[in-house]
Order: sequence, then C-alpha cells, then structure tokens
Amino acid sequence: FAGDAKAGEDVFKKCKSCHAITAPDGTEVVKGGKVGPNLYGVVGRQIGTAEGFKYGEGTIAAGADGTKWDEAMIAAYVVDPTKWIEEKTGDDKLKSKMTFKLAKGGEDVAAYLASVAPA
Ligand code: HEM
Repeated sequence: FAGDAKAGEDVFKKCKSCHAITAPDGTEVVKGGKVGPNLYGVVGRQIGTAEGFKYGEGTIAAGADGTKWDEAMIAAYVVDPTKWIEEKTGDDKLKSKMTFKLAKGGEDVAAYLASVAPA
C-alpha cells in the first residue's frame, strides 16, 4: 500500500474535529470530536462497529456482510463517503453520515490509521 503514515498524521488534523483516536485502555492517541466514531484500530475492523457509536443505516448496511476496512477502502471512502456507501451496497438511497470529503491525502491518512492499532 502506497500511503505515507507520517504525512497522514498531518492529514488527520482535518479529521479530528469529528474523530478521536482512543486506545482500549483509554489512552488518547488523538483527542478529537465525538461526531464520528473512534478510529483507533479501524483498519481491520468491521465497517460500522465502533463500540458506543450510533451509525447511520447506510454504514450499517455496508458492513452487514462482515467486510472489514482495509487501507485502500479507507483511502477511497474519504474522497466521497456517500458515493462509496452507494457503490458498496448497490443502493443509491443509502448514504454516509460523514459529510466531509477529503480532496487529497487519503492514502496517507489510511496508512496513518493502520499505524494506530493494536500491535
Ligand atoms: C465515519 C474516516 C473526517 C464524520 C468514518 C469512517 C472512517 C472515517 C474510516 C468509518 C468508520 C467505521 O466504520 O467505524 C475519516 C477520515 C477523516 C474523516 C480519515 C479525515 C480525512 C470526518 C469529519 C467528520 C466525520 C471531518 C465530521 C464533519 C464521520 C461520521 C461517520 C464517519 C459522522 C459515521 C458515518 C455513518 O454512520 O454513516 N470516518 N473521517 N469524518 N465519519 Fe469520518
């Protein structure tokens, strides 16, 4: 995978208004907002399954087959989350609650997210 985790750490500044990165032991890797789910360990996690977060129906539908996020999927998702959910589910009425779109740096931020995960 082509992303640069170090560059992605900087890109994540655009995400933290809505997303925190909090380890299971409570360590705040990145202090962030609660509008979106905790992104600690999101790479390898089933879509729509962060504990305690109330997902929209589109994201729940996208994860219903058990698909787990990988870096390439996250890089594509952040460009246009609703479009990604529509394509994944094949249902153009479903959307993501994430309205933010990242113009560039998706591969880097995906690589960064892969680096903040259980060892
Ligand atoms: C969901 C990444 C910026 C709000 C997600 C998910 C990922 C992600 C991977 C799916 C998580 C899961 O399935 O558990 C990112 C990245 C960002 C970013 C890398 C920056 C580049 C933002 C911003 C907001 C936001 C700025 C708020 C304005 C949300 C919400 C969801 C979400 C509300 C839940 C979607 C739903 O339930 O349909 N994000 N995000 N995100 N994000 Fe973001």
